[in-house]
Parts: sequence; structure tokens; C-alpha cells
Amino acid sequence: MYNFTWNIPTVIHFGKDQLSHLEELKESGNKVLMVYGGGSIKKIGIYDKAVEILKKYGLEIIELSGIEPNPRIESVRKGVELCKKNNIDMVLAIGGGSTIDASKVIAAGACYDGDAWDLVLDGSKIKKALPVYTVLTLSATGSEMDPYAVISDLTKNEKWGTESQNVKPQMSVLDPTYTFSVSKKQTAAGTADIMSHTLENYFTTVKGNDFQKNMCEAILKTLVKFGPIAYNEPDNYDARANLMWCSSMAINGLVSLGSAVAWCIHPMEHELSAFYDITHGEGLAILTPVWIEHCMKKNPDTIADFATFGRNVFGIKEDNDKSCAEKAVAALRKYLFEDMHIPANLRAVGITEKINFEKMAEKAENGCKGCYEPLSKKDIIAIFEAAY
Ligand code: NZQ
Ligand code: ZN
Repeated sequence: MYNFTWNIPTVIHFGKDQLSHLEELKESGNKVLMVYGGGSIKKIGIYDKAVEILKKYGLEIIELSGIEPNPRIESVRKGVELCKKNNIDMVLAIGGGSTIDASKVIAAGACYDGDAWDLVLDGSKIKKALPVYTVLTLSATGSEMDPYAVISDLTKNEKWGTESQNVKPQMSVLDPTYTFSVSKKQTAAGTADIMSHTLENYFTTVKGNDFQKNMCEAILKTLVKFGPIAYNEPDNYDARANLMWCSSMAINGLVSLGSAVAWCIHPMEHELSAFYDITHGEGLAILTPVWIEHCMKKNPDTIADFATFGRNVFGIKEDNDKSCAEKAVAALRKYLFEDMHIPANLRAVGITEKINFEKMAEKAENGCKGCYEPLSKKDIIAIFEAAY
């Protein structure tokens, strides 16, 4: 296990009726930029409640709405301008990962003299940020408790993740009932995203990290159990609560620190979203089984790990590693594409051409170098082809 430092400044208020904790924003000043997406928070009633609480505590609210799924740099720039013009003290994100990610870069951009895109390309330039608070409405990215933000410039087909300890949320409200209204599509995609964060950490060449691996298996088994329940019974509290807590735990460092190698499915998926604006979790789900098969073929030493995944997560009883790993891939496909009804290939999410595969692979290659099974541009193209 490698050395690590773990510091999570985020206070979590988990469970029903936690919104009154927005009172804590007072500690950061009296002017808040409230950021949200396309309006789901109004439909489900959080908007009115949040405004009422903020006003009760004397906070002045400036709003930025319309943050897009796969949030755009243009929206971030608008938010930065609002912060600078209005001397904003803190940013409150109410929504899913896109709203939270945009809010993080807005909070950093408000304390930066240049263009916010600089901060997306290089997180080390984030020396300071306004405090970020979040109310999570979709279980998926873990942005509510992590240092990452992913922003797109679709005019250039660019989607990059940035990282800074300075943008970790100060406080996050995690009320699973806020996710009852999440569509089946987003429930499935969000669950696949949490699964992918866990798998990116679980498949590692680092040895002696049993704790992290066991925690990964706990998250994976929880997703396998509760994903389909949330899909079929959207207001099942325990299902939504388990998915929500897994979302935070999969990426806040608990299962990765001391154990992690570079991620490889995410850099490939970010190219799919950058070129075709698809839903992140769906892209990950489509690539994952194909990536496992590619690794098994390329490097038979990986087969034992995929067999362990099959035995410990899907309960497959099979002594032979190769056939156990094959059954694990089949079980994963059944889970993602039958139980969770995620589109099973790239054509099914509207990617009906192969013309950009080479360019996309070239851009993903750097991110896929130091990972569990290092991937070349040729490997990545083969994975895109197999996912097509
Ligand atoms: O915009 P609104 O109206 O809020 O609707 C959203 C959006 O259309 C809707 N939604 C959210 N909560 C809802 C709801 N609808 C009904 N009821 C609710 N309670 O869901 C749609 C998708 O929302 P979005 O925020 O885009 O989804 P998600 O949370 O999956 O975020 C995806 C983005 O996060 C990035 C992805 O690349 C993508 O850009 N990621 C961020 C990470 C991080 N910060 O650590 C890591 C991830 O790997 C990921 O890359
Ligand atoms: Zn992800």
C-alpha cells in the first residue's frame, strides 16, 4: 500500500429533512451564488425551501440557472462574472454532478484573474476558491465530497477533469428523498458511474491493499442489490439512501488512496462525451465489459483479478479462473444492460459513425498510460470498435 494523506473537510448532513443546515452558509458571509440546472429543483420543491431558509438567515441570493448536463465552460464564465460583479462570498450548488462541478470552477474562477478554462486545464492554478456548499439531487459522481470537476468546451470537443483540494465542498446535504424524482435513465447511468469509480480503483496493480479492495466489493455488492430496486421503485428510501452514500464513498479517497493507479475507462468515456455529448454513466457502462475482455485477451495475467470480481461481487461459483472471468463479464452485462436497462453499445446512444475514433483515442491515450493495463492508441481504438 502506498503512503497517502486524506483530508475531507466536507461536513455531510445525511438523511431526511436536512435542508435547514443551509443555515451554516452564514459562516461564510452574506452573499451567495445559488447555482442549479434546468429546473428539476423547482419541480421537486427544493428551490422554494432553500430560498426560504437562506432568506430567513439574512443571506442575499444571486442565481445562476441552466447548468447543462456535461457542464459547459460558457456557463462557468457566466458564474465567475456574477461572483466578481456582486462580490459573492460563497457558492451553493443544488443539483447533480454537473451543477456541482460547474460551481466548483466558478468558485475557483472568482478568485482567479485569468480565464476559468485555465483552471480546467491545470488544477494547480487553483490557489484559492470561494467556499462551496452543495445539496445533492442525483447519486452518481461523488462531486459532493471530492476535489474534482469536469467541464466541457464542446466548440473544441474538449472535456477535461480538474482537481484541487481548494474546491472540496465545505458542507453537503445528502437527502435521499431528493433523488426519488430522478428518471430511470439517470438512475441507471448514475449507478453505472458509481460502479465505474469503484472498479477504476478496484482493478489495480498495487499489492497489500486488502482494506481498499474489500471496501470496493462492499460498494459493488450494494450497487448490484439496490440499483435495480431504485430503478423499479423510485421512492424506495433504502435503495436511494444506499446509492447516495455509495456515490460519495466511491470517489472520496476511501477506496483509492494508497491503492490507486491511473483510471482508464474514464479518459475513454470523456472523449465520447466530448465528441457526442452522451450521458457519462451510459458511456462508462458500454465501455466496461468490452475493456475487461480486451484486458483478458491482451494480458492473461489480469484474468485472475476479473475472476475474483466475479466470485466476490456476483457470487459466481467456478474454480477455473478463465471461465469464472467470462461469467463475470456476462453477469456484468446482464446487470447493466438487462436489470438497469442501459443502452448496450455506442450506436444505441446515437454514436453512428467511427470517423472520430482515431482522434478520440489519441486524446485519451495519455490518460490511459499508467493504468491497470496500460492502453495504447491502438488498444483504445479496438475498445471503441468493440463497443460500437
Ligand atoms: O438540470 P436539471 O434540471 O437539474 O436536471 C438534471 C439533468 O438533466 C437531472 N436531475 C438531477 N437531479 C434530479 C434530476 N431530475 C429529476 N430529479 C432530480 N432529483 O439529471 C440530469 C443529469 O444531471 P447531471 O448533473 O448532468 O448528472 P450527473 O450527476 O451524472 O453528472 C454528470 C457530470 O459529472 C461529471 C460527468 O463527466 C458529467 O459531466 N463527473 C464528475 C465527477 C466528479 N466531479 O468527481 C466524476 C465523474 O466521473 C464524472 O466525470
Ligand atoms: Zn464518472
